[in-house]
Amino acid sequence: MVQLSLTLLPTILLALQVAAGPVLVEDNIISLPISRRFNFTGSANVVQKDLERIKQVKAAGKKGARAVISEPVDNQVVSYIASVGVGSPATTYSLIVDTGSSNTWVGANKKYVATSTSTKTSSSVSVSYGSGSFSGTEYTDTVTLAAGLVIPKQSIGVASRSSGFSGVDGILGIGPVGLTQGTLSNSAATVPTVTDNLFSQGTITNNVIGISFEPTTSEDDNNGSIAFGGTDSSKFTGSIGYTSVTSTSPAREYWGINQSVTYGSTSILSSTAGIVDTGTTLIYLATNAFTKYKSATGAVADSATGLLRITSAQFSSLQNLNFVIGGVTYALTPNAQIWPRSLNTAIGGSASSIYLVVADFGSNSGQGLDFINGYAFLERFYSVYDTANKRVGFATTPFTTATTN
Ligand SMILES: *[C@@H]1O[C@H](CO)[C@@H](O)[C@H](O)[C@H]1NC(C)=O
Ligand SMILES: *[C@@H]1O[C@H](CO)[C@@H](O)[C@H](O)[C@H]1NC(C)=O
Ligand SMILES: *[C@@H]1O[C@H](CO)[C@@H](O)[C@H](O)[C@H]1NC(C)=O
Repeated sequence: MVQLSLTLLPTILLALQVAAGPVLVEDNIISLPISRRFNFTGSANVVQKDLERIKQVKAAGKKGARAVISEPVDNQVVSYIASVGVGSPATTYSLIVDTGSSNTWVGANKKYVATSTSTKTSSSVSVSYGSGSFSGTEYTDTVTLAAGLVIPKQSIGVASRSSGFSGVDGILGIGPVGLTQGTLSNSAATVPTVTDNLFSQGTITNNVIGISFEPTTSEDDNNGSIAFGGTDSSKFTGSIGYTSVTSTSPAREYWGINQSVTYGSTSILSSTAGIVDTGTTLIYLATNAFTKYKSATGAVADSATGLLRITSAQFSSLQNLNFVIGGVTYALTPNAQIWPRSLNTAIGGSASSIYLVVADFGSNSGQGLDFINGYAFLERFYSVYDTANKRVGFATTPFTTATTN
């Protein structure tokens, strides 16, 4: 414990603010902002992009320990980006925040700049993410997530080759450490994640991350944040409901949970395992559940966007879509089930149409990974990833029932 004189404290706080911008310090918890980037090029729809990732999620399960799920796969339509410093003096990289993979690496676009804190190890490192991948050299270096969140000797990958990462520099991998197994050339060991090191180095007192996104109607914004070391009580309402990481494979390799789903009072998916993933844009339900949802809502498939489309009359009678997790019901309101209408044309849709954010996972339930709660879910509920207690938590937020869409 460092003793601070009271007269010095305001100066130090001020310095923190100046250095780090919008960083919230609460007890021992430090949050860093995440910005949302929207990149629709017209070459593929949102669903096709997600399905590339899902294909990899499913394949990864079959490979067992080497499970690593797909990341930007040819440039995601929507990604969440954190600015991360590496080295001293630090070079700042724009990294995709990914709960579905666990290696942190840089160099896809902006070149890695070695400084006095950089140490090249004898290992090469490679991760394949579906149609995207990177390979390069392992270094240890000082990684700065925010003022007060500095990680000396963090293992990072320095890409010599990468594909599918236009406009970003790499990944901040905050999935479970098991996903790093097999990524180093000279070792079968796992590679401690940034969160693991913050915890083992004593910078945070709990090996926990809390993620907040807010539903937005603009293409680019700065509305997300990750709290390291705990949860940021300014970002959620009520209490956090926790559920153990599922024991069902392959969902258990990720931030996997058991969940059942009802539409109104009708059960559409009985309790089964799936994952929570910041790298997936929409909400994906096993085909049998998706089919029930589609017929209950009266939606039709829209070929331009790849999404379901409903009429305004059907929207008026839309029921809540309820996710039951650990005995708690998280209700996605009708407004939360639709794609933000101001972004309809950005995904190739028509401005006056109403599209749904629930899509088909592509296989029936019973696969051990039957749903993905992606951004469309995470923008309505605060989520907590608790490594120490092997559990995932959710809470409502001031935006859970917002009607911004
Ligand atoms: C958007 O995606 C296209 C191709 O998919 C890529 O060339 C471009 O660099 C991306 N832009 C940004 C800002 O990520
Ligand atoms: C989200 O970000 C945008 C742009 O940065 C801002 O205008 C808007 O107020 C933010 N929304 C919320 C709910 O904070
Ligand atoms: C999740 O569901 C599986 C399959 O029904 C069950 O065996 C397991 O006990 C449940 N709970 C957890 C935490 O895995």
